[in-house]
Formats: sequence, C-alpha cells, structure tokens
Amino acid sequence: MTTQLETDLQSLQQEALSAIAVTADLDALEQLRINYLGKKGQLSLILRAMGKLSAEERPRIGAIANEVKDAVQNQLDQQRQALQNAEIQAKLAAETLDVTMPGVYRPLGRIHPLNSTVDKVLEIFVGLGYTVATGPQVETDYYNFEALNIPADHPARDMQDTFFLSDGRLLRTHTSPVQIRYMENHEPPIRIVAPGRVYRRDTVDATHSAVFHQVELLAIDKGLTFTDLKGTIKEFVKQMFGEDLPVRFRASYFPFTEPSAEVDVQWKGKWLEVMGCGMVDPNVMKSVGYDPEVYTGFAAGFGVERFAMVLHQIDDIRRLYTSDLRFLQQF
Ligand code: DAH
Repeated sequence: MTTQLETDLQSLQQEALSAIAVTADLDALEQLRINYLGKKGQLSLILRAMGKLSAEERPRIGAIANEVKDAVQNQLDQQRQALQNAEIQAKLAAETLDVTMPGVYRPLGRIHPLNSTVDKVLEIFVGLGYTVATGPQVETDYYNFEALNIPADHPARDMQDTFFLSDGRLLRTHTSPVQIRYMENHEPPIRIVAPGRVYRRDTVDATHSAVFHQVELLAIDKGLTFTDLKGTIKEFVKQMFGEDLPVRFRASYFPFTEPSAEVDVQWKGKWLEVMGCGMVDPNVMKSVGYDPEVYTGFAAGFGVERFAMVLHQIDDIRRLYTSDLRFLQQF
C-alpha cells in the first residue's frame, strides 16, 4: 500500500534530481542543497510527518526516506564535481598561451640625423687619435672673441652676429672658444674634436637657424704644417662621404688662423663648401701661453646641419628642428 508520504518522497526526489541537474553554478547548487536537505529543508518537513505513522510502516518509509536522501546527495556531489571541473577548464582555457598569436608592435626609437652626423664625425676623428672636448654655451667675450684674436671693434666681429646676455656674457657664436679653454688647461701635443651648439642672430630661412651645431678641430704639436692639415681634412672627407672626393682649399680669412682656408668638396657635380680651417695664429698661441716659435698647429670648424643636409639630401634646415615623425622616421 502506497502512502501519501511515499508519494511525497518520490516527487521530492524527482523534483530535486532534475533541478540539480540543470544548475549552472556552485552558489545555486548550495541553495538547492539547503532547500532539499537542510535542517529546515523539504526532506525534514516530510520526515516530521513520520511521527504519525504506525510502528510497522515507520521502518519502511524511513528506508525510503534514506534512499531519497542518498539519491539527492549523490546528485549534488556529482553536479558539484562537474561544475568544479568546468571552472578549472575555463580557467585553463583563459590562461593558455597561444604562441601563434602575432606579437605586440613596439615602435623603435632612432637617432636624430643631427646626432648621427655628430657621432660619425667624432668616430672618424677618434679613429685618427683625437680626444673629444666640450665647453660652455654661455661664454665670455674673452673666450668667444678676445683670445681668438678678435679684439673689440675688430670688423671680424660682424662676421658673427651675437646674442648678448644682460650680465655682459654671450651665447657662443662658434665652438672655437673650446680651443682656448682646452689649451689653457693642457700642454701640447693636443688633438681635440669639440662638438657643440652655437647661437647667432641670423634670420631663420631654409639654410639659416639662430641655433645650430658645429664641430671644432684643433691640433697643436712641434712641427705641424699646412700639409698635415690638408692630409687630415682629406682623410676626414673621404671617411665622411665614403668616397675619395676631389677636395680644394680656397684662401680665406679667419682672425684665429693664418693662413686660413675654406674647404670645398666636389659632391654630386658641384663644389660644396664644407668647412673653415687654417694654421693657428701666433696671437692665439700667445693668449694661452704657448710659444709660437716652438709649437705650431691647425684648426678647423664646420656646421653639423650642413653636413647632415648634404649627406641626407635635406632641402630645408628647419626640418631638422620640427620633430616631425614623418621626416625623422626616414633615418
Ligand atoms: N669659427 C668659425 C666660424 O664659426 C669656423 C672656423 C674657421 C673654425 C676656421 C676654425 C677655423 O677652427 O680654423 O665661422
């Protein structure tokens, strides 16, 4: 004979098993456990009614109730295991490293054409035994002019229109003052190459900038002649332009050299002026306490922008300063 209690237990089992089978997460599963098997759950509710059963019926219904409880518990365990496995699988899938994925693109920085030009010049002269020297950009009249044999009111001052500071100092108009500073602190023999930024009150256009860069060269020793200067410049030009280009020396004037020359290089069918140079003037030697009867030397100076423009066929000096990536990425 089937009692109401038996029917209730059967339908509880059915309902519980199908509800558990479709739970999608562990929290929901725990809720179902409490709902069916908890102290105040549906199974307890039914079992409370067992008190009213007769002594013969009680063990039989009790056994059924245990079966129901076991079946539900069993289903809960299985579903928990399944959900935990699924969770682990999902985690593993999310953390899998796919080595066939394309890499992340990181843009590479590059060296500015002005810096690469200076680097190249320095490399050449260091290879010829020169040492790199530098000096301040804010200079005194003495180092920028006086000591370089350009006294006040000398017409040569007009060659370099100068920015003066209110304290009487100035922004150096060339790297030549590094010659003086270096000679003051060293004894011959000297071989230095001095790169640096210089300033002039020039109107900005395609070939002029108020701020630009020069490299200065100075060699002092016993018995140095114009031949040494020529040989050095020729070797430099050859390494700089990568070919044995025709080089010509044109007589010129600089207050700090005597004789002075400007150097032209035959480049792409034209003579191109690349630097000023000459034998160090005896007055410059005297200003640093060197005896011009004992020592001779040569000096040279040139514009870095000009070299960069020639080497890379850049048509306008302003392109070197505007930080336009479309331009810079070509180097
Ligand atoms: N200082 C000169 C200028 O800026 C360039 C120069 C010419 C430097 C001749 C030298 C030199 O050392 O010998 O125009």
